[in-house]
Amino acid sequence: MQGKRFLITSALPYANGPIHFGHLVGAYLSADVYNRHKKLQGEKSLFICGSDEHGVAIMLNAKKAGIGYQEYVDKWHKEHGEVFNKYGVEFDFFGQTSAPYHAEETVKWFHELNERGFIGPQDSQQLYCNDCHNHLPDRFVEGTCYVCDYDSARGDECPNCGEFIDPVRLKEPVCKICGSQNIKEVTVTQYYLLLSKYHKEFREWFESKKGDWRKTVWPYVDSLTKEELKDRAITRDLDWGIDVPLEGTEGKKLYVWFDAPIGYVSNTKEALKGSDEDYLKDWWQNPDTELTHFIGKDNIIFHTIIFPTMSMASGKAKPADHVPANQFLNLEGRQFSKSTGHYVDALDAVDEFGQTALRYYLLSILPESTDSSFSWDQFQAKVNNELANNIGNFLNRCLKFTQKHWAEGMPADYYQAFLSTENCQEIGRDLEELNGLLDQQSFKKGIEKVMAMGNKANNYFSDQAPWALIKENKDEAGKVLAASSIYALCLGVAMAPFLPELSSNILKHFDNILEEKSVSEIYSGKLDILSSLFADGHHLKEAVNALVPKISDEIISARKENLLN
Ligand code: MF3
Ligand code: ZN
Repeated sequence: MQGKRFLITSALPYANGPIHFGHLVGAYLSADVYNRHKKLQGEKSLFICGSDEHGVAIMLNAKKAGIGYQEYVDKWHKEHGEVFNKYGVEFDFFGQTSAPYHAEETVKWFHELNERGFIGPQDSQQLYCNDCHNHLPDRFVEGTCYVCDYDSARGDECPNCGEFIDPVRLKEPVCKICGSQNIKEVTVTQYYLLLSKYHKEFREWFESKKGDWRKTVWPYVDSLTKEELKDRAITRDLDWGIDVPLEGTEGKKLYVWFDAPIGYVSNTKEALKGSDEDYLKDWWQNPDTELTHFIGKDNIIFHTIIFPTMSMASGKAKPADHVPANQFLNLEGRQFSKSTGHYVDALDAVDEFGQTALRYYLLSILPESTDSSFSWDQFQAKVNNELANNIGNFLNRCLKFTQKHWAEGMPADYYQAFLSTENCQEIGRDLEELNGLLDQQSFKKGIEKVMAMGNKANNYFSDQAPWALIKENKDEAGKVLAASSIYALCLGVAMAPFLPELSSNILKHFDNILEEKSVSEIYSGKLDILSSLFADGHHLKEAVNALVPKISDEIISARKENLLN
């Protein structure tokens, strides 16, 4: 018995363009909070991600940019790594699906599914360009929609009416690679994932998630899969991707959505390279593993139907335990759109406002149950009023005051006096409740809870007014400040999963008494430990500085104007 462990994945971002706030709140920030939460609890957890680097959309854009596919995806992989880093999204591993280790793992899955009878060939009609000699699947072709007559329907979907397009039925098809209209229909053999064979087993597993999964996820998947599962083509005639590992399939690649989710597994293997753990036995096949896929709602089908079925049918991995898909985030009420300029560059924003302000606001508007919207005014108000005025101000006042009047440190009995009070017990209960919320993957309520704890600390400090008290009774004022320091310490610990940078700035002031293990105890609400931590009193050595800067009206106006262009 190894004990429970937590395997956490975030949707592999396409290495095909910038990451914006919508992506961050969709699949990355909450996953990061959950991973930090589990690690703080002292649990074993792995947070796995990587770039999704195959597929037609990437091929078209690399061609447009006039560079090779590999060079193109490497460039985006690097930039995304930088964005995640600046936002404090700390994966245990961030790999690439173009890497050889990933192809190797994907091929194993293909063979396993094939040997078990879950892959089979089927002939289908496809378009072929007579001028540039390419097969034209998906978005390689455009034409007029046969449902609504919209003239720029893509080969996979009509952006106007939403129809799932059969490319051979497009009217006046045009090759997206060379612009030619000299297109013919050919018969090609593709390999299909025979999901239909697994319908019964799939439903048995899926039914067990009822009541547990979000209301925006379960009923939707239920309605899609009640009657049947449809077989899906998992090969394409392309020159970028993983080769189909069968005789006589030259020129065929695996479909990007077949290999991408296997990226979670291949990247786990790569993450554990050199350790004594096995990625399958200890993690992906371990019944004690709790597997959570963090995704946006556009990825629900692949994470709740196709990949779990691939995992179970192949016997390679356990299916997901949780798929807390988020709804969409808008920008000032409208969709993010790079092409129209209704857009915010995530790197530029984090350079201007810092990680703490952005994580705070983005986490507080997580679209957990409905779509939500990023607004510059609301961002400013929340950061200034809640973070800077309330929490930042409390921390600054309390720590500076303590440092000023007790430059040599405070005696133990100041701290001990607070430990048996109802206020201190309430902090312990709040921490326990916070753990409960995050265990349930309720992140928005989690950050609200932390802010409520901050309010209590701030109110305590204001009510006790140590700056007045010190004139009459320095000992009493000292006890208030010692209590406030304990509030600050616990707040710093409670914040750690959400606002790691601010948290570590706070905890720096206590690092002469804190160890990783004691942080874990405090985090779990076991505040008994405080009595031994403060057994010799405490000395605030670190210089205290303004912890959360305010955002000016000018900056916000400029940001808003920028959007109107
Ligand atoms: N690249 C896809 C997207 O951004 C997500 C892939 S998730 C995975 O929508 F499971 F396939 F990896
Ligand atoms: Zn062509």
